[in-house]
Amino acid sequence: MTRHLLSLSDLGRDGLLAMLDSADHFKSVRGTDKHAKPLTGKSIALVFEKASTRTRLSLEVAVAELGGNPIALTSSAIQLGRGEPISDTSRVLSRMVHGVTFRTFGHDRLESMAEHSSVPVLNALSDSGHPMQLLADLQTVCGVRKQLDGLQFVWVGDGNNMANSWIEAAGLLQLDLRLACPEGYDPDPKQVSLAKERGGKISILRDPKEACREADVISTDVFASMGQEEEAAQRLAAFAGTQVNQVLVDVASPEVMVLHCLPAHRGEEISAEVIDGPRSFVWDQAEARLHTAKAALAWALEDDG
Ligand code: CP
Ligand code: NVA
Repeated sequence: MTRHLLSLSDLGRDGLLAMLDSADHFKSVRGTDKHAKPLTGKSIALVFEKASTRTRLSLEVAVAELGGNPIALTSSAIQLGRGEPISDTSRVLSRMVHGVTFRTFGHDRLESMAEHSSVPVLNALSDSGHPMQLLADLQTVCGVRKQLDGLQFVWVGDGNNMANSWIEAAGLLQLDLRLACPEGYDPDPKQVSLAKERGGKISILRDPKEACREADVISTDVFASMGQEEEAAQRLAAFAGTQVNQVLVDVASPEVMVLHCLPAHRGEEISAEVIDGPRSFVWDQAEARLHTAKAALAWALEDDG
C-alpha cells in the first residue's frame, strides 16, 4: 500500500516515536559512511504552491543525502499554476517519480494529490497542518529534555496549521498542551476533540501569561499565515497582547524552550529579545527539519523496491 504522510495520524503513536528515533539516527551519522542511501536511483518531486525556505531546503538536501534526485517544482513555473487539475498533475508525477511532497492551500488539494497518486505523497504544509515541522519540533525538544512525557507544552497565537499539528501530536503522544488564542482564532475543534479522545490534555485559554505559567515549551507562529495576507492588518489588531516576550518567559520554567517554525516577525508574535535570547531553540529547530525530513522520506519510500 502506498504510504502517504498527510498528517501525523498517518504515523500513529508508535510510528511517530519511531520516526523521531530515525531522525536522531540520521543526525548522528550525517557525513559518515554509516548514512544509508535508501533513495538511490529515485526521484522525488517537491511541489510548492506557496513560498518556502526551510521546507524546500531541507527536502532538497535530504533527498540528495539519501542518494536520490530532488526535483523542485514551484506552481508558478508548472501547469498546475495555470489551472491544470491536481488529479492530472498527480497522475503524471506518478509515472515519473517515486515520491511527491506538496505544499498547498486547502487540505482537499493535498488529499486530491494523494488520491490520484500511486507513489507516496507527503504534506509539506497545508492550511490545516504542518506535520513535517512538528517532527522537527518534537525532535528538538527530545534532544534537550530527553523526553516528552510530563512536560508542559504551550502554544501562543493563531489556531492555525501549526497549532492543529501540535494538537494532533499532543493527542497521539498524550501530551499536556495549553493554547492561548485570541477569541475568534481558535484551532480546528475537530482536532481538539480527536486529541482529547486519544488522551491528550488540551486546554484553550485566552491569557498567554496564564497559559505560560511553568511552561517547559512555548511555541508560536505568525499572526497571518500564507494565503491570509489580506487579513494582516485586522489580525495585527486582534492579536495585540499575544506576543511571546520576556514577560511570558519569566513566568515559565527556567528551562523553558521557545520554539518558532519561522519565518518570524520580530516585534509581532515574538520579541527580538526572546527569539534572539538564551531560551530560544529556533536554529536547532530549523536544523531538525533536515534530519526529520530524511526520516519521513525514508519511511514513506521504505517499501518502494
Ligand atoms: N517552517 C517552515 O516550513 O518554513 P518555510 O516556510 O521557510 O519552509
Ligand atoms: N502558519 C505559517 C507557517 C509557515 C511555516 C503559514 O502557514 O504560513
